[in-house]
Amino acid sequence: MTAEGTVAPLRVVIAGAGRFGELHLRAWQEAAAEVVGVVDVDPARAEQVASRWGVGRHGASLADVLERTPADAVVVASDEGSHSSLADGAIARGCDVFVEKPFALSTQAAERTAAAAAAGGREVVVGQISRFAQPYRYLRSALQDGLLGTLWATRLRRDFSRAWFADFGDRVHPVWESCIHDIDLAVFLHGEPATKVYASESGAAGDAAPSVISAIVTFASGATSTIESAWTVPARGPQSLAGLLALDGSIDGEVQVIGSAGTARQRLIGDALTVWTDELSLAPDLSLWPEEDGRVGGALRSEVAYAASVFRRERANTLMPLEQAVWGVAIAEAIVESARLGRPITL
Ligand SMILES: NC(=O)c1ccc[n+]([C@@H]2O[C@H](COP(=O)([O-])OP(=O)(O)OC[C@H]3O[C@@H](n4cnc5c(N)ncnc54)[C@H](O)[C@@H]3O)[C@@H](O)[C@H]2O)c1
Repeated sequence: MTAEGTVAPLRVVIAGAGRFGELHLRAWQEAAAEVVGVVDVDPARAEQVASRWGVGRHGASLADVLERTPADAVVVASDEGSHSSLADGAIARGCDVFVEKPFALSTQAAERTAAAAAAGGREVVVGQISRFAQPYRYLRSALQDGLLGTLWATRLRRDFSRAWFADFGDRVHPVWESCIHDIDLAVFLHGEPATKVYASESGAAGDAAPSVISAIVTFASGATSTIESAWTVPARGPQSLAGLLALDGSIDGEVQVIGSAGTARQRLIGDALTVWTDELSLAPDLSLWPEEDGRVGGALRSEVAYAASVFRRERANTLMPLEQAVWGVAIAEAIVESARLGRPITL
């Protein structure tokens, strides 16, 4: 509370000021948070983004910025390999944390962050954005309401532009980039941890790192989920991501839910809206982060509003429980391991 009796704005530091970090900065400001610091290992990038959005403090080290700037929460939107250390550093300094996917790159690191948050009374919300997109919320409600009967299986597939692979797809194993979305959706829909994973991969795109992944996940009840990803969509595929995130390209994916009383299917980006010009074929995504009335909208706006309200202790983190984020990391880790060893992994 301020002296005037109004609720003080949440003070937020953005850690990782790349493409998505800058979009987060904007979305958090629009959610009435006060962004008090911008951190990037590239100090010029931190300074540039801070000045573009009128943020007073910037630097290359989260510890240094938090030392000089009181903050309530840190938004981690850096490269995947630094998520755990930045989250742990923020918790150690008494902040709540929003961590972009992937939560961590090992189960051990995910459990360590979860334990530190519990011990310090801090909230951690993991940025698995699909949970905030309405079609998936609908599918989960349909399952919970019994519309589809007992959940027997899910099938999830997500293919990305081949150009993204060269850009950032191989900076960690691509399971942590693309499959992690569908792993989390599977956990969200099945609502239980996995017991077994069997996966294979290939470098079909001709690169040293794997670019095609297929996995079969068995959950505790015996229900199964197939998770597939190929970073192979050609340059002339209809462009679905364009606009707010400076990452033009295509996502082609879908989810199928198979229950004892019914089935459901959701295409990640449908073809109900298409735009053709002499230069482009567009199927614009309007669910993740479309611009709405000059603001970041869609699932990203809902996700940021949700996390802000968890950090203000207005609601419990029931939609993205940290335990489920840890289950997802365990599945991703097992997929990488199974594909490497060529045998099933028991969890
Ligand atoms: N939820 C989604 O749909 C979605 C979409 C895009 C990106 N992401 C996630 O957001 C994160 C960032 O992706 P991006 O596309 O913005 O990448 P990016 O490469 O554009 O930006 C990453 C930034 O982090 C900085 N960085 C690296 N290590 C750091 C550290 N230790 N401390 C501070 N800054 C550091 C880099 O210098 C860079 O500026 C990734 O984890 C990615 O998976 C999620």
